[in-house]
Amino acid sequence: MSLLDRIASTVTPAASHEDRAEARRKVEGLAAHEPWVRLIVDQHKQIESRFSEARNAPEPHTAARAVEELATLLTGHANAEEAVLYPEVAEYSGKSHAAMAYEEHAMTKVQLAKLRDLNPQGEEWREKLDHIESAVQQHVYQEEDSWLPDLAANLPAERKDLLTRRYEEEFSRYYDNEAVGRGERLPEGL
Ligand SMILES: [Fe+2]
Ligand SMILES: [Fe+2]
Repeated sequence: MSLLDRIASTVTPAASHEDRAEARRKVEGLAAHEPWVRLIVDQHKQIESRFSEARNAPEPHTAARAVEELATLLTGHANAEEAVLYPEVAEYSGKSHAAMAYEEHAMTKVQLAKLRDLNPQGEEWREKLDHIESAVQQHVYQEEDSWLPDLAANLPAERKDLLTRRYEEEFSRYYDNEAVGRGERLPEGL
């Protein structure tokens, strides 16, 4: 069993499409009055769009560019969560949640690096992309269904304000959101 499979199987059964949709509906309600949750959930939705762009890219070179975009966004998101969100999860929610979250990020980074080495025209590339997407979907489900709501219930208000500021700061160290807004980072032809 691969490491990614092992992680995917730590929460069994994997959340269904309906489970994930329900968790998203609830976390959107939470995001309406928790700015730090809003930032994270909006990035989850951007990540989902990047997976679709990679899958539906018309040419190998646009697929490769879409994977670069996906990897950059995913790494920026993961780095920000690792630097400022998961320490709060460890302190105010659960150490086992935080440990699992860090491990899942690490495994996704390993698999993403492998994906970038594969030829987008090959079968292996598509299988790897599907595999990473399933693992990320399950991880996002855990965050939206459990870890974020639990932290929202337990984190003191002043730490939430700090978390919002620090999260934005960490994410922008790696990912230039304004460049995306200007279309500078979007893959050609997508
Ligand atoms: Fe995460
Ligand atoms: Fe996340």
